[in-house]
Formats: sequence, structure tokens, C-alpha cells
Amino acid sequence: MCGIVGAVAQRNIVSVLVEGLRRLEYRGYDSCGVAVIADGEPKRARSVARVADLADQVRDTHLEGATGIAHTRWATHGAPVTDNAHPIFSRNELALVHNGIIENYETLRTMLRGKGYEFVSQTDTEVIAHLIHSMYRGDLFQTVRDAVKELHGAYAIAVIHKNQPHTVVGARQGSPLVVGVGDGENFLASDALALAGSTDRFAFLDEGDVVEITLDGVKIVDRDGMPAEREVRVVAAYGGAVELGPYRHFMQKEIFEQPRAITDTIPQTDRFAAELFGADAAEVFADIDSVLILACGTSSYAGMTAKYWLESVAKIPTQVEIASEYRYRESVPNPRALVVVISQSGETADTLAALKHAQGLGHKHTLAVCNVASSAMVRLTKLAFLTHAGTEIGVASTKAFTTQLVGMFVLAVTLGALRGHVSEKQETDYLTQLRHLPAALNSVLALEPQIIAWSEEFSRKENALFLGRGLHYPIALEGALKLKEISYIHAEAYPAGELKHGPLALVTEAMPVVTVAPNDALLEKLKSNMQEVRARGGELYVFADSDTRIVSEDGIHVIRMPEHYGLLSPILHVVPLQLLAYHTACARGTDVDKPRNLAKSVTVE
Ligand code: F6R
Repeated sequence: MCGIVGAVAQRNIVSVLVEGLRRLEYRGYDSCGVAVIADGEPKRARSVARVADLADQVRDTHLEGATGIAHTRWATHGAPVTDNAHPIFSRNELALVHNGIIENYETLRTMLRGKGYEFVSQTDTEVIAHLIHSMYRGDLFQTVRDAVKELHGAYAIAVIHKNQPHTVVGARQGSPLVVGVGDGENFLASDALALAGSTDRFAFLDEGDVVEITLDGVKIVDRDGMPAEREVRVVAAYGGAVELGPYRHFMQKEIFEQPRAITDTIPQTDRFAAELFGADAAEVFADIDSVLILACGTSSYAGMTAKYWLESVAKIPTQVEIASEYRYRESVPNPRALVVVISQSGETADTLAALKHAQGLGHKHTLAVCNVASSAMVRLTKLAFLTHAGTEIGVASTKAFTTQLVGMFVLAVTLGALRGHVSEKQETDYLTQLRHLPAALNSVLALEPQIIAWSEEFSRKENALFLGRGLHYPIALEGALKLKEISYIHAEAYPAGELKHGPLALVTEAMPVVTVAPNDALLEKLKSNMQEVRARGGELYVFADSDTRIVSEDGIHVIRMPEHYGLLSPILHVVPLQLLAYHTACARGTDVDKPRNLAKSVTVE
């Protein structure tokens, strides 16, 4: 999704701004641009190609300046053409970049046209630029504070004006914005990662904040216009995140980082204590009678897997809802439910809106399972469990998913223990199993060469079916999602028992059927489902636990999983599916880390 970088310095800042955009590239974008104040006016370069092309342009045109803003745009209003790329100008005096969507832009455009403003883009952003320009009387900070009151919708903006060549003003509402604090220079960005090369000191802005950065200062006012202090935190962890190391793609790097990410996420305690979820958790957990999980995409599959754990281990009724559905439907709120939002970014617009919707309905018990401590979701919920996946750059989620599963398993056991369904001995056993997971994952990662051999075959297919049962049905869904989003092969997942209720009609010799086959209570049923596929000529590709006695034969290809892992098996079984999608995409030559049409951190609805 869109990204913002801004800076005020006493040196040419263009390369810092462009490097910031490079660091945000992973989020997905279709155009980019940079503007600085030079010779008393804003000057810009924009590109509908990659940030590397923008870097060439600024070098060739000698674009230089000490105050500037930059942007990667993921098109919503208006096609990805140069005229719609940010920074957007107003009368060659002001330049502005914007993340989010302005809902009342048509009304504002009509009003501004009435004042003689000409619109040259199809963006909703241009109304903000002209609005601020029309209200400007010499103080950009005050003008932006007044102007944002007219905006309905979500935004993070950064703006510069020719009359204040050492000032950048920013504002946020519904989209993230952080201040980077430097020495004699200051920065703004939509993600601290963008500024990792320039500073490690960050102040995370609150909803409704407006900020002015100058050479030697940062001024913030809150949504009520009152001066506000935001804690400056040192965050040094971003350094290595954008380095690829020996890997071909970030997705591959992140798949292989899973043993480390899981080690970092497993709590360093010998009991599953409520406090792992926050100081108020014991009180909240004592009052709840059910769980309502809200999430999108891959994170919703972590929720679906967790439903099995919560109901079998903690015996607590659990409902999982796609956030974009829940937020708009009429539901019957149960104030004693624990509302759990699961999100890598903590900023996904639909999940955030679903959380606010739940709170609006009277849900007061809220928990975020999230990878970003400073995110909107963590700030809005009463309780939080932080996953420690580290920055995930590849658009397709991998290590975020497996660490979410760890977080949700810890929740299930914690609630199970509190509700008297998990004995102390079982707690110790679960902890031992969790602690052994990284080693088990390493053995699964060692299957990569066998999976590469399968991926050659897969890369020539146009469709694939994924089957799983019980706990592993959401893993089949995740495997299908991974394959379709990065290889563009059409893939569907079904609980294997559903096959004969419709999808079996699709099974021919041309249809590969990927099957997740753990040795659990449903194994024999799954084997019957596999026979149904074979009888129709379908080719089976089975990830089978070593003790399942499923063997390779005509039309059945088997990769043996190294260990049978009981309740935690989904965390192991998803990894070969990630690798299968990854290597199939590589064989098809797609842009694995930035698949077409997709973005990391979906901050628009
Ligand atoms: C798929 C993927 C997405 C995200 C979804 C939610 O690989 O990454 O489906 O899981 O957009 O994002 P978060 O977890 O940031 O809320």
C-alpha cells in the first residue's frame, strides 16, 4: 500500500527520501515520486515504474533540496499514471503526499472548483492539496490543523510549502505516521522501517495528531488541538530486515526465518499465565464465556486453526469472522465474549474497523495478536500478545502466520488452564512441545529439494485443489491462498469430506490435488477421500506424517513429514505448502515478493 517519507535537513535529502521509498517498496505500489523545495519553489520527479527509475530521474535532472516529501502510491482513485502520482502540487506553491481515502472529496472538489482551482489528476488527494493551499495564510502547521477538520475518511499526509522552506507538516487519521528524530534534522514516514538508515529514534503519532517538523524541533497537537508529547523510543531492530542475505527473495528468507521467529515468540516462562496477555488479562479472562476472532486473509486462517484449539483445549465456544463481513452485518453482541483481532501489521483497515465496530456494540474484552507493538490495533485493545516474527517484507505472509499460530495456541492453553481443562502436567508437556518446534521446523525446511522437484510439475498447471480435514483444513486454505497469490495458479481448498458434494466434478488427470495428511483421528477418512480422487484420475501430492503408512504409488506422490506433531501439527504442515507455492512461483517467473495487484498491509477498505 502507499508509503510516505518526509525530511527537513541541512543537506541534500533527496537520496534519503528515495532510499526510504526503496525500503517501503515491499508494501506494493504502482507509481512513486519525490518533491523538494528548490530555488524557492517545489520541484518534483514522478515515475510509474520502480523506485530505481525514480532514482535515475533525480540523478539525471539533478533534483536536489534539503526539505522534501516522497511517496509510493497504490492506486485507488485514478489509474497509475504520472498525473495521479504523488507528490501532488497546488499552484506550484505547495506539494502534498497522502495515504488513505478521502470520502467527501467530490463535495470538496466542487467547492474548490468554485474558488478557481483546476484539477489535473483523478485523485482524491488533489482536494487536500488545494484545500490547504486555499486556506494558507503564512502558517502551514495551523493551516493543516484547520484543513483536516474538513476531511472525512482516512489519511496520513505530509505537506511542504514554498514560503516555509524548512518545514514539513504531517497529519494522521486512520493511517499510520511516525516522526523520526535526528540531530539537526527530522523525518516523517508511514513506517519507521523507511527511516532505518537515518535514525533509530521514533515517536509514533496518535489518531488525529498533526505534527510540524523543522530542523531543530518537532511540534505535535492532538485531535483537540492541544499540544501533545509522544514518547520518543529507540527502535534499532529494523537494520537487517531489508537485506536479502543469501536468499533469492524475501519470501524465501522469511520462510527460513520461522524457527527463529517462533523461538522469539514462545513465552520465556514455565507456566501459561494470563499476564502474558497484559496486566488486566486475569480479570478479563475470568469474565469471558466465548471468543470472537476477527481477521482477514492469512490471519483469518490462523483464527480458524485457533478455533479448533480453543474449543478442544480450553472448551470455550469460539467464532471466527472475516473482518470485512463482520463490520457490515447485523450481529448479536455478547459482552462476555473475548474479541480477538489477529493481524501481522495491526493496521489492516477492515480488521481495525471490525474491532471498532465490536467496541461500538459494547464489546469491552479485546485482545490483539499482532506483530507490530506500535500499531493501531495494539493501542486500541485492552490486551495484546505480540508475535516476534520481525519485519515481514514479502507480500505473502509466512513467518507472521506461524507466529500467530503460536500466539493463539498459547491463548488456548492459558484459557484451558484457567478454566480447569489443562492440568499442570499438560501445561509442561505443551511447553516442551512448543520449545521443540523450531528444531522440528528445521527438519521440515530440509524437505526443500523434494518440494522443488514437485514445483516444476506444478508450474505447468493452471488449477489445483487442496484438501485437509479438521485442524488442517485451514492449513489447506492457506496453502491454496499462497499458491494463487504468488504463482497466479487458480487454487481452491476444501475440507476433504466436502469433495463429493461438488468439487469432485473438477477432478481429472489435469488436476493436481495437494493433501495435508497428518496422523490424526481423521486419517482413515482422509485416505478414503484420496481414493475418491484417484478413482477419477486425479494426481495426489500428499504431505504425510511418517507414521501414516501412505506410500508413493501410481498417481500418488508422497513427501514424508519428519515428525508427527499432535495439536501443533498445523505449524509444521503449513511450511511445505509455503515452499511449494514459493518454488512454483519461481518456476513461473512471477514477481514473488510483490505479486501483481497485491499490497502488504492493506490500509484501505
Ligand atoms: C496473504 C496475506 C494477507 C494478509 C491480510 C491481513 O499472504 O498476507 O492475506 O494476511 O491482508 O493482513 P494483516 O495480518 O496485516 O492484518
